[in-house]
Amino acid sequence: MAKFRLPRNSQIKPGKKHPGADAASNAREFQIYRYDPDSGENPRVDTYQVDMDDCGPMVLDALIKIKNEVDPTLTFRRSCREGICGSCSMNIDGSNTLACLKPVEDVKGPVKIYPLPHMPVVKDLVPDLTNFYAQYASVEPWLQTRTPPPPDSERLQSKEDQEKINTPSACILCACCSAACPSYWWNSDRYLGPAALLQAYRWIVDSRDEATGERLDALEDPFRLYRCHTILNCTKDCPKDLNPGKAIAEIKKLMVEREH
Ligand code: SF4
Ligand code: SF4
Ligand code: FES
Repeated sequence: MAKFRLPRNSQIKPGKKHPGADAASNAREFQIYRYDPDSGENPRVDTYQVDMDDCGPMVLDALIKIKNEVDPTLTFRRSCREGICGSCSMNIDGSNTLACLKPVEDVKGPVKIYPLPHMPVVKDLVPDLTNFYAQYASVEPWLQTRTPPPPDSERLQSKEDQEKINTPSACILCACCSAACPSYWWNSDRYLGPAALLQAYRWIVDSRDEATGERLDALEDPFRLYRCHTILNCTKDCPKDLNPGKAIAEIKKLMVEREH
């Protein structure tokens, strides 16, 4: 039987136990992935205790408290603290989600926190999203028109047409879906992944856009679109309750319809 081993420098070593609020009546344990590629050391998982009676309710509140009061070297992204910017996406308790929307009390036992899976790590909980953003840019996420707008008027849409783009426009590009997709794990160099495809769909169904044919042509490829096998991990992990899996199925349907 074939045996597979992780490269030596990717094996997770035992981490540090930081002294903290062990004696507090409402202490919770956080086990957090730590990795600094510049140090030459292997990744490790550090353990922290946080008194939840003296901390906000979300996982991001605990991370900020740890960084401010225990360990300033802990690195993670965050900005809005209300599920809008998409910066604080990470893997918590085995699922990709936003730390600012994840209540600590929803996690049973130690709170295990890792970066988004299957992406290079810049440091600790910060994934390298360079490829992810390049794929987003590749779907040309802006309005493309061939005809001039009506004189003295904007390009108007009916309420029904506008509603078609409402939901996909709510995507905050947090990457939780793409990082949960097995097809994306293995082929992220060629498969666009659910987040970029949801945005491709958003412009394909925009009634004002006049590049629909070119947009579909650009996706007509065994990898860019068709590597999606409708496993729907993407939809399950979207913290904004969007449905990128369904959008991908709709694009495939449009591909078939235009052939007939
Ligand atoms: S439905 Fe498609 S995009 Fe979503 S997880 Fe499955 S393979 Fe990936
Ligand atoms: S579809 Fe959902 S999970 Fe994917 S990038 Fe957008 S908001 Fe994040
Ligand atoms: S900090 Fe902005 S989405 Fe969490």
